[in-house]
Amino acid sequence: MKLIKDLSQREFDRVEELLTKMTLDEKIGQLNQPNLFDDKAALGDLVREGKVGSLVLAYSALAGTESRKSQLGFRQELQRIAIEESPSGIPILFGRDVIHGHRTVFPIPLMQAHSWNVDLVEKASSTAAKEAIADDIHWTFAPMMDIARDPRWGRIIEGFGEDPHLASEMAVAMIKGFQSAGIAACAKHFVAYGASEGGRDYNTTEVSDYTLRNIYLPPFAASVRAGVLTVMASFNDISGEAVTGSRRLLTGLLKEELGFEGFVVSDWDAVGQLIRQGAAADRRAAAAIAINAGIDMDMVSNCFIDHLPELVKDGTVSESRLNDAVRRVLLVKSAVGLLDLPDNRTPMQAPVYELNVQLAHDAAASGMVLLKNEFELLPLPVQEKKIALLGQFLNEQRSMLGSWTLDGRAEDVQVFEECMKQTAPELIFINAASGSADAAVEAAIQADVVIVALGEDWNNTGEARGHAGLLLPDEQLDLLCAVNNVNKNIVSVIFSGRPLIFDEVSQLSKAVLYAGHSGTAAASAAASILFGLNDPCGKLSVTFPRNAGQIPIYYNQRSAGRDIDNYYGKAVFKNYQDCEDSPMYPFGYGLQYTTYEYGKPEINKVDNTICVSVDITNTGKRTGIETVQCYASYPASEFVRPIRELKQFHRVSLNPGETKKVEFNIEINDLAYFAPDGKLIHSKGKYVFWIGGCSTVTESVTIDI
Ligand code: NOJ
Repeated sequence: MKLIKDLSQREFDRVEELLTKMTLDEKIGQLNQPNLFDDKAALGDLVREGKVGSLVLAYSALAGTESRKSQLGFRQELQRIAIEESPSGIPILFGRDVIHGHRTVFPIPLMQAHSWNVDLVEKASSTAAKEAIADDIHWTFAPMMDIARDPRWGRIIEGFGEDPHLASEMAVAMIKGFQSAGIAACAKHFVAYGASEGGRDYNTTEVSDYTLRNIYLPPFAASVRAGVLTVMASFNDISGEAVTGSRRLLTGLLKEELGFEGFVVSDWDAVGQLIRQGAAADRRAAAAIAINAGIDMDMVSNCFIDHLPELVKDGTVSESRLNDAVRRVLLVKSAVGLLDLPDNRTPMQAPVYELNVQLAHDAAASGMVLLKNEFELLPLPVQEKKIALLGQFLNEQRSMLGSWTLDGRAEDVQVFEECMKQTAPELIFINAASGSADAAVEAAIQADVVIVALGEDWNNTGEARGHAGLLLPDEQLDLLCAVNNVNKNIVSVIFSGRPLIFDEVSQLSKAVLYAGHSGTAAASAAASILFGLNDPCGKLSVTFPRNAGQIPIYYNQRSAGRDIDNYYGKAVFKNYQDCEDSPMYPFGYGLQYTTYEYGKPEINKVDNTICVSVDITNTGKRTGIETVQCYASYPASEFVRPIRELKQFHRVSLNPGETKKVEFNIEINDLAYFAPDGKLIHSKGKYVFWIGGCSTVTESVTIDI
């Protein structure tokens, strides 16, 4: 697959030639994206009439929670009709939500972000893409790169956390993975959808241009630079401006300023929903507003197909805007090879499924985060101990897959209890005789160590799955309490999607492994970490609060006038009288089975590059992989800046006793930030660089720039 910039002159000419030949109706057909629905004959007729440019392979607005098949055979017939019987003969672009895997399911994106491992993320996406291509899918609606500071928002699981730099790196890795394997990616949701007030999905957002440009926009800018072929507009309004109808955002910012050359698809029915939003009087007006704003393809609302013919004829929508939208769609079809059909595109073979289990295991292990490990209870010994296995998630399969698993199968998912027993066959495992709390307590009494598998149901996470409270369900906490009364050696393994409130879990457990919804091989990865076959190395890509009342709480908050910055240690003023101010676990946090010592950081400047370096030594007894993070604090400036901002990170592998120098080369331009009007501001003065294994690191070094 090519990027638009890599298309040949012949391919550009082919698109122009098509444009000159196509009738108005054929052009409008290219901008229409109905969904796969049950009336097959009706869909066949639409395709035959040239009214389907793309199909979204979903049956309902909540695609993430359905598991209906993508109908390969039926779609091949539709494709045949498009090529052989529709007026223009242009093939249909099939789009489906291949979000974190296809048949092999990788960890939810938030867990992938905890790995900080861009290579692995790229590999997983490319594997997912190959599996999807074998199902004749050309386009995935991923990655979602909405910065999220609110774990109540169900869709926090689908993004890369709270930091623009980490999210940009992850987004680019996924895009490369998808697109190099051959399917078009989609940067979504443009823009600031993650700022939904109160964590209520589809809700209104209040975001200043300053925050928009410095927090929500960077992953999209990075995606455009990486050549992402499509972008999805978001459902929300920003301070009163409905994004789907915003020419300023879609054309001005995305297409003109960032230089995006692919096409913009609306979100599901979002063009029609402009009416409910109060941004359009009727469907005709909605179509006009959306296409004139910069939406190129209408996902399922039918507003374009129904109203563009009259709107173009009466001049409300110009022919040049229509041609621009169609050109963008055809260029993407050209890039994915669809315009070469049926001659040149040979469907790829489905990869052998077993091959991907190892990658699924590696991806899962790499994102799991060790939150607590008192008295080095972990890793567990593999001999001579009695281990009780308890908890609701011991035999859970479907929830391991997380939300947005359209093609993964629960029966493929490894079972945690079995994985524990297989990983350490010489141990004595004790299970509760029945599902009752008494039986669990009985098992715990007999054991040296108790493993309690807890978590969140997949169906409580994802699209339209907000949660006002962030505690584990009562029965799970009750079980933990009951077990704690008889045995203090508790290891809690948490299979959840979003960050939860872990105060109580942490108090009741000696060790806590945050295992997440980590896909097909989540269970073997968790078991391997517990027994030390894999070392935990994940670091949080989002802050875990102590109390839902602290939300929003995030590491890159702006500096306040009074000293209230309790995120980073004790400040003069306390924010809450009824709760600790600090987060439960900060951004960048994650324990390991080994320890590190950081030397004194050094800094120098060569031309326009600042080089910050530090020696890091593995002071423990095990090999480890440390994610070394470099944050910057700013001098006095025109606008108030974040207290700290992640600039770069490196993953370093160290043997016991080994020391390595880690270097960060930061361009002075990378320290600039955006004013609300988009101008770059370079502040002069004293910059502080913080280097360590977590956002709250205390070692720093200063330079005058
Ligand atoms: C609505 C979601 O917001 C979007 O992310 C998804 O890609 C579409 N539905 C299609 O399923």
